[in-house]
Amino acid sequence: MTTTSDRSDVDPSSIDLLDRDRFTSGIPHEWFTYLRAHDPVHLHPEPDGPGFWVITKHADVVACNRDAGTFSSEAANGGVIALEERATTQSEAENAGGRLMLQMDPPDHTRYRRLVNRGFTPRMIEKMTEHIRELTSAILDRVLPAGECDFVVDVAAELPLEVIAELIGVPIEDRHKIFEWSNKMIGSDDPEYRVSEEEMFEAQVSMFMYAQQLAEQRRAQPDDDIITALLSAEIDGESLSDMDFNLFFLLLSVAGNETTRNAISHGMNAFLEHPDQWDLLRSDPERHITTATEEILRWASPVLYFRRNAMADFELRGRTIRAGDKISMWYISANRDEEVWADPFTFDITRDPNPHIAFGGGGPHFCLGAQLARMEIHVLFEELARRVPHPEALGAPDRLRSNFIGGIKHLPVRFDTT
Ligand code: HEM
Repeated sequence: MTTTSDRSDVDPSSIDLLDRDRFTSGIPHEWFTYLRAHDPVHLHPEPDGPGFWVITKHADVVACNRDAGTFSSEAANGGVIALEERATTQSEAENAGGRLMLQMDPPDHTRYRRLVNRGFTPRMIEKMTEHIRELTSAILDRVLPAGECDFVVDVAAELPLEVIAELIGVPIEDRHKIFEWSNKMIGSDDPEYRVSEEEMFEAQVSMFMYAQQLAEQRRAQPDDDIITALLSAEIDGESLSDMDFNLFFLLLSVAGNETTRNAISHGMNAFLEHPDQWDLLRSDPERHITTATEEILRWASPVLYFRRNAMADFELRGRTIRAGDKISMWYISANRDEEVWADPFTFDITRDPNPHIAFGGGGPHFCLGAQLARMEIHVLFEELARRVPHPEALGAPDRLRSNFIGGIKHLPVRFDTT
């Protein structure tokens, strides 16, 4: 593991953030460390396009993230996760007049966000907390007696899935459908998850039909849940159209699952690699769990970057980003910035303050599910610390082939619960 911030040994011409294969052996931290030190606003080439800027310093990511007027999500042709140019086909959703909120700019985004915020009130999250504890206990009751498991599949993937299903009112027996559809729709670069365009499209249609049915059912029989809150929310006489609702349902299923799953998987992996930190957490879970949760988020940074398009020329550290240029804001790099943390490559669950930006650097798109994700990580690791004295790795983490999500697909773990 890299422990030094001096990476002058890196050959800058070897840096290739489009090489997904490189990410299967871990995050190329040596590249980011080099870039932060020597080329923090880096123009990255791409084979069939103009290239994209790679922003790696914490302060710069925050500044760009907050400046939605200069750095547009809407103008990010191809999407806020697409670094490369590609022939974009209009999706069915766009044809039907809907757009993902991730892909909107203010003021449209502001209106939309105010509507969906109605579903994510502190009261709703509070209501979920006790339930998250029950779901967590049930998962651990199922998994721990066997003594070993694939931590990603059996625990880390399971909790967010159950929470999202619960949150959006999907009956328990249908939750794996949502999982399957959202996995297919992401259009993974990893061979284990890759599906054809047709399958992606079918998954999207199935998801929309499902959301539509759910909406009709809730309109007929309102409940005290997020779906009902969203369907009845009205601001300035506007409410969510059916297509808006379906898209939001889709976004929640995708955004709330893989991200939280990987934060939890990386958290477990970090504790396996740093048993002293596990012992510390176990010594007083209640005392350490809040700072431990933030350190897990900093360490994991499961969303590696988001992309925007510049709407005007912009000077940053002596480089000129031109109107129309693509920029990518690398949260994973910002969260190891030596200017913010003196020892960023140390996993330290007592860090406080810990101004990580795993949920984005602020601004209009700041993660809507941040409190919920925090709660899941908090409860799960608190419970694990109470019940598992010595977790042990039974093999190396099997990593996702992706330069967008820092993912672990499998992590065999032995639990000694005695
Ligand atoms: C550890 C888990 C998670 C991480 C690391 C994460 C990270 C992020 C990031 C980096 C953004 C973009 C921020 C920006 O552009 O400024 C985002 C947006 C978003 N996240 Fe999360 N997220 C997580 C969990 C969740 C959960 C559990 C949900 C839903 C229940 C969720 C729903 C969303 C939505 C809807 C947006 C778009 C917000 C908008 O466009 O206004 N996320 N998330």
